[in-house]
Amino acid sequence: MSALIAPSILSADFANLERDLHRISNADYAHVDVMDNHFVPNLTLGLPVFERLAQVSPIPLDAHLMIEDPDRWAPAYAEAGAASVTFHAEAATAPVRLAREIRRLGARACVAFRPATPVEPFVDLLGEVDMLLLMTVEPGFGGQSFIEGTLPKIRRARRAVADAGLQVRIQVDGGVSRETIERAAEAGADVFVAGSAVYGADDVAGEITTLRRLADGAHA
Ligand code: DX5
Ligand code: ZN
Repeated sequence: MSALIAPSILSADFANLERDLHRISNADYAHVDVMDNHFVPNLTLGLPVFERLAQVSPIPLDAHLMIEDPDRWAPAYAEAGAASVTFHAEAATAPVRLAREIRRLGARACVAFRPATPVEPFVDLLGEVDMLLLMTVEPGFGGQSFIEGTLPKIRRARRAVADAGLQVRIQVDGGVSRETIERAAEAGADVFVAGSAVYGADDVAGEITTLRRLADGAHA
């Protein structure tokens, strides 16, 4: 499993999003955090901005919806051109129906879990999704420190995916940096979101390359 790097534009300059998408053009995905001030205590951007980002981005967009009622709102992000659409397990009413709808619209479907939300209820439903997002901080803000206690959950999720014989990716989001990415990779993560670590680096493109090399090294 080769590591994929998805810098979060939450740490970009919101007055220069197109420019800052081009600064991460050597990444695999641009991770776009949609927050509604209900599911999380922060407000970022919504569908009209996302639609424009999808038109100008040099790399595919990974939509992370930290919103209430994703059953209603998530399909539009697939229609807007997201490569993957992530909704939260805690917020979705009918996650299987929603995942199927996202896939029908041509995007990869992903389900996300807060640090304290167990993945076990989804173990028999792994065939319905393309990726699990295991939050390694409480969602809502960039720049928080990695919660080490999430590592056993990453390991259990990786084992469940292997036992099911599926290709489901495991994404980690929050506090991922040079200091933490290898532990997350060793535990079984293979898609890495990093906001402040990438955009806070002097050499943004170089940081993406470094993170990818560290994760691939930990997988080897
Ligand atoms: C937080 C967001 C993350 C955030 C990560 O709720 O989902 O994507 O941008 O930021 P860092 O990498 O700075 O922890
Ligand atoms: Zn995110």
